[in-house]
Amino acid sequence: MVFREDFPMLNKDIIYFDNSATSLKPKKVIDKMVDYYENYGANAHRGDYDISYKVDIEYENARDEIVEFINAKSKEEVIFTSGATESLNMIAQGFFANIVEAGDEILITTSEHASNVLPWFRLANDYGCVINFIPLDENLHVTMENVKKSITPKTKIIALAQITNVVGDVRPIKEIAKLAHENNIFLVVDGAQSAAHMKVDMQDLDVDFFVFSAHKMLGPTGVGVLYGKKELLENLEPINLGGGMNESFDNPKEIYLKDLPTRLEAGTPNIAGVIGFGEAIKYLKNVGMEQISERERHLREYLVEKLVRIPHIDIINLEADSGIVTFNVDGIFSQDVAYYLNKYNVCVRAGNHCAKILKNSTGVTNSIRVSLSFYNTESEIDEFVELLKNKEKIMEEMI
Ligand code: ALA
Repeated sequence: MVFREDFPMLNKDIIYFDNSATSLKPKKVIDKMVDYYENYGANAHRGDYDISYKVDIEYENARDEIVEFINAKSKEEVIFTSGATESLNMIAQGFFANIVEAGDEILITTSEHASNVLPWFRLANDYGCVINFIPLDENLHVTMENVKKSITPKTKIIALAQITNVVGDVRPIKEIAKLAHENNIFLVVDGAQSAAHMKVDMQDLDVDFFVFSAHKMLGPTGVGVLYGKKELLENLEPINLGGGMNESFDNPKEIYLKDLPTRLEAGTPNIAGVIGFGEAIKYLKNVGMEQISERERHLREYLVEKLVRIPHIDIINLEADSGIVTFNVDGIFSQDVAYYLNKYNVCVRAGNHCAKILKNSTGVTNSIRVSLSFYNTESEIDEFVELLKNKEKIMEEMI
């Protein structure tokens, strides 16, 4: 695939393998945001002059792009937030805090990111809910059998990533949604690691809530989406009250809010971010989500096939259908390996990757993570693998 010239960061003589932390941005996305700041940088939904109309149009066009991209039923179901983390906290505090009761069970797994653990821990602490964990199988995957076994009459919420950020496994979300709904359970899906890497279709998946961040999908930082079924979002109480989201107010007893989606977007939004996000979505659509998934699976296979031949490399997630490969170099602290790779301008993430309870399932506290994107190449992988072949060299050069 020849998309590399679209990405200014790919001319910097680096090998960027940290795409799960944040993706690189195409020039078109950057230009779109610069254009806003340079040529029509007014506020949104407030002005009565030409450039403010243009802002409104661009901002809502971005929402339309996302509605189509995720096949939501309407724009009322797509709320702009600061990212997946804020979206998950809004769901927990704005929706579930009003309906959970002591003893209700929330099902998660040990491989969730902190953003999909801590909001549920808080709910459990504040309202007496119980957190239970769906066991992972020998590949660290979630199986339908294990989901079924974990459900009890008290299960109220299942909250899972579609693709996890360390193991990189793709969960059977559609089947889990069906099972959840047959048992009157809500399904919340963290799409931060999936939305940029596979086709996601809200109506087909039939999830209740789905969240994702622009910066992991070729867009800017500081913006993301909270998708929810309209009838559920109608009952999600705004965490933030302020300008833009109210219809009128006179006293504490008379506060009238606007309709969705504006009701959940208090204050001046991240306008440049939203507009840039819309452009990123256009870019992804243009490349094609099927092509992206296929390309990233191919790159992963290409990398794994080479890494398994190196005796001092232990791959933690041998089986995963995404571009994530997590491993350790036997006997060397993961961060030391990352420092060593950095000397050769290779960017990887090392540590626990914010998935701090995954160690309860793997026994491994720290690891090195390569997260590939469609714009990575086989020759980058070849170079990377060469750097890892000689353990003595790593030990000599790592500090
Ligand atoms: N959630 C991001 C990651 O996995 C930051 O690296």
